[in-house]
Amino acid sequence: MSQDAFRLISPNGTESALPVHKGTTGPDVIDIGKLYREQGVFTYDPGFVATGSCSSDITFIDGEEGVLMYRGYPVEQLAEHSNFIEVCYLLLYGELPTKDELEKFDHSVRTHTMLNEGMLNFFKGFRYDAHPMAQLSAVVGSMSAYYHDTTDIHDPQHRDIFAHRIVAKLPTIAAAAYKLNVGQPFIYPRNDLNYSENLLHMLFAVPAEPYEIDPIAAEALDLLFILHADHEQNCSTSTVRMAASSGANPYSAIAAGISALWGPAHGGANEAVLKMLEEIGDVSQIPKYVEKAKDRDDPFRLMGFGHRVYKNFDPRAKIIRKMAHKVLERLGQRDDTPLFDLALELEQVALKDPFFIERNLYPNVDFYSGVIYRALGIPTSMFTVMFSIGRCVGWTAHWTEMISDPSGKISRPRQLYTGPANRDYVAVKDR
Ligand code: CMC
Repeated sequence: MSQDAFRLISPNGTESALPVHKGTTGPDVIDIGKLYREQGVFTYDPGFVATGSCSSDITFIDGEEGVLMYRGYPVEQLAEHSNFIEVCYLLLYGELPTKDELEKFDHSVRTHTMLNEGMLNFFKGFRYDAHPMAQLSAVVGSMSAYYHDTTDIHDPQHRDIFAHRIVAKLPTIAAAAYKLNVGQPFIYPRNDLNYSENLLHMLFAVPAEPYEIDPIAAEALDLLFILHADHEQNCSTSTVRMAASSGANPYSAIAAGISALWGPAHGGANEAVLKMLEEIGDVSQIPKYVEKAKDRDDPFRLMGFGHRVYKNFDPRAKIIRKMAHKVLERLGQRDDTPLFDLALELEQVALKDPFFIERNLYPNVDFYSGVIYRALGIPTSMFTVMFSIGRCVGWTAHWTEMISDPSGKISRPRQLYTGPANRDYVAVKDR
């Protein structure tokens, strides 16, 4: 990070020279670390609209141009030529693996897929209809009870074991949550299958008959996981970083990230998109719903549209739209075609509407992912779980980056206090 200075003069004439850091690419950042000491003021930026919370080597987004890169590689190239396990290695270790490194990593992930048998008992405690995101967050949090004493966050080897373990076990936990919901027996992982194939097997196989994995389904899942793998300092990743900045157990921090992802403004949007498309129901209803989305007095928003960072097409949405075409054509799920056609038409109407044009509201990653999940037979309540499986490696890479930094500090923002000023306690009899 090279330095420049940003001169800030307060109304009373006190001057501060605030260092300006330059990244590899993207906007410069003003380092305000000494602002309070020198000027006696805090900065104020609810929602972190113009605030960088850390420096990071992992992912770069140019929201104006619609660019997304993992460790410098454009996501389009990774989507076309790589696979999810290789992308996991890239995110965790910073470079594309050699053949040998990839084989070792793949082997390690494949051989960490089983859960401690006792952990399966947790699922018996949930009601049959417990939302799978609630189950996922609770069971991942409970991993901290299994791996507390054996996880020294200051030991690089322990950090590595944590990373491989969480990436490997998340699909197993996700599939167990799904099996509880559908009342089927839990299916153990198969280490001869690759990551996405194994997940499909755990989700859809039953002990009573053979299950054949559809290669298109596995390819589509792998692509979705690549596209969801990381997205710099988004809400859930920032949550993981913040929770873990206290030195908390990393499994608990990932559980916090899963909880943050669940909200409809974040990963929960994929579930909300499908519900919205079903509610719209027919192309003839689109104008009515677009008007609702524009109405200030109506809380309805077009789910899967808009993004805090992208003010252009979300590059992931373009890739997913292409895959949605392929999945629907090849899997022949005719039932889902009207829903996809509805999504395509809604996109066209919104993209031509001045309200959406003026606000740079484009389809985001969640707009089409649900259409694919649905065509694969994955229920709506599992959509955000699938997002979690993809994003888990990003959370883990960010956790590793943060914890490995010896100058790391606990995250502790300040505030603008707007409550009552100093006042004296009044005894209950006098109130
Ligand atoms: N439908 C209708 N209007 C919208 C929408 C939408 N989906 N998104 C933003 N707007 C309007 C909003 O009303 C505001 O208008 P105005 O300037 O007149 O007040 C303007 O656009 C800016 O919106 P904002 O809420 O200030 O923007 P934000 O950066 O705080 O919010 C967002 C970003 C993603 C939360 C928001 O666009 C949204 O709620 N989208 C729908 C939910 C969604 O698809 N979320 C998934 C995001 S991508 C995956 C992920 O992050 O996990």
